[in-house]
Amino acid sequence: MAGTSPAMTAKVGAREKALMPTFDFAPLFATGLPPAAAKWNGLAKCSFVGGNNDADQVPVDDLIAAMSAVLKREGATLATYGLESGPQGYRPLREFLAQKLKRTAGIACSADEILITSGSLQGLDLVNGILLNRGDTIITEAETYQGSLNRWTRLGVNAVGVPLDREGMRMDALAAALDDLKKRGVRAKYIYTIPTVQNPTGTILPEARRLEMLRLAELHGVPIFEDDCYADLIWDGRRPPALYAMSKQGGVIHIGSFSKSIAPALRVGYIVAEWSLLSRMLPLKTDAGSGALEQMVLGEYCPKNFDEHVPPLTRGLRKKLETLMDALNEQFGTAAEFDDPKGGIFLWVKLPDVVDTLKLYQPALAAGVAINPGPEWTTDKAYGKSRMRLCFASPSHEAIRAGVAALAEVCGREFGVPDRIANVQRT
Ligand SMILES: Cc1ncc(COP(=O)(O)O)c(C=O)c1O
Repeated sequence: MAGTSPAMTAKVGAREKALMPTFDFAPLFATGLPPAAAKWNGLAKCSFVGGNNDADQVPVDDLIAAMSAVLKREGATLATYGLESGPQGYRPLREFLAQKLKRTAGIACSADEILITSGSLQGLDLVNGILLNRGDTIITEAETYQGSLNRWTRLGVNAVGVPLDREGMRMDALAAALDDLKKRGVRAKYIYTIPTVQNPTGTILPEARRLEMLRLAELHGVPIFEDDCYADLIWDGRRPPALYAMSKQGGVIHIGSFSKSIAPALRVGYIVAEWSLLSRMLPLKTDAGSGALEQMVLGEYCPKNFDEHVPPLTRGLRKKLETLMDALNEQFGTAAEFDDPKGGIFLWVKLPDVVDTLKLYQPALAAGVAINPGPEWTTDKAYGKSRMRLCFASPSHEAIRAGVAALAEVCGREFGVPDRIANVQRT
């Protein structure tokens, strides 16, 4: 068309398309789909949600240098699915992990017992994929990761919650849960635990409890599924050995991630398990390999830089946590109860019983503050009702202070607590 630019043609096309009747896919949808996702409207001004990291701590320059070096040297291997490393993932990254896991978690494994995954979320899917059927039962910490809870719900799996105290999962309660299942003729498919900086409580399971968990698991013939993705983020840097390392019988599957130590958007996680298990997971990993560029960058970056990167990261996170705890004390006073977590990126907060954090969510968001309501992180929804999880890694110190002040205002308006804000009586 004379005088019509390609952009104008595209514009008319888009308008016409908007007026056309749309094809109705709804009757064709597969049964059992989860509810539709909400459209993303950007992050809240003060976002305490998700497992996001501190933007200032992403080692951008070193990642650029690593990317450039590895691509110059090995870029041509991108022509092959799985590079030259095969379906388990970039071998230098698996070799780095094998020596790091030995040093930090006591795990003696070779690169052949590691499968690189697209985030540890894919690790959850693969482990669930080889073990779980609809109607099965698993055991978990009663306060736990929403991504795991949602998966069990979708799979039709019964999750038995075991209460925690300040040292993680209570072993007397685990023993009782296992005995109860046995009486009912149920053998749990696994005990899922986040033992090292638990999500959301921030607890670390001491070595003696780990031994007891292993003993109980063996006694009942139940494997342990150890999710260790926060293990690098401990304030004093000291951690007990991984359950995987302590087990004398096998029977433990271990997963981890670079999301919390480097960056979640990279989507690089891993599974440590015997080949007899990995060989059953690989056929379920139908993506023809996780993204290779990010594996190559980490494989290049980590051996030289990982150990120096982590201490300043955790120091920065600790400072943000202190800002958050100070702000909560100032704005909520005794209305906000919490334990000082041993590491990680979350604070798990209990508000007075009158507060329903599911109902607090929308008005808080309208005031620019996003929180994770407690019931989404608990097997017992009533227990979670007045609790909330706050991620302190991603917002700046200023946003943390402003966000907590705005949250106190909204909470006071909606539920009458706190009745004093910053030590001033609410009118
Ligand atoms: C306990 C736990 N497991 C797994 C994941 C998934 O992490 P990713 O897929 O980014 O490795 C998360 C993320 O927050 C988590 O908290």
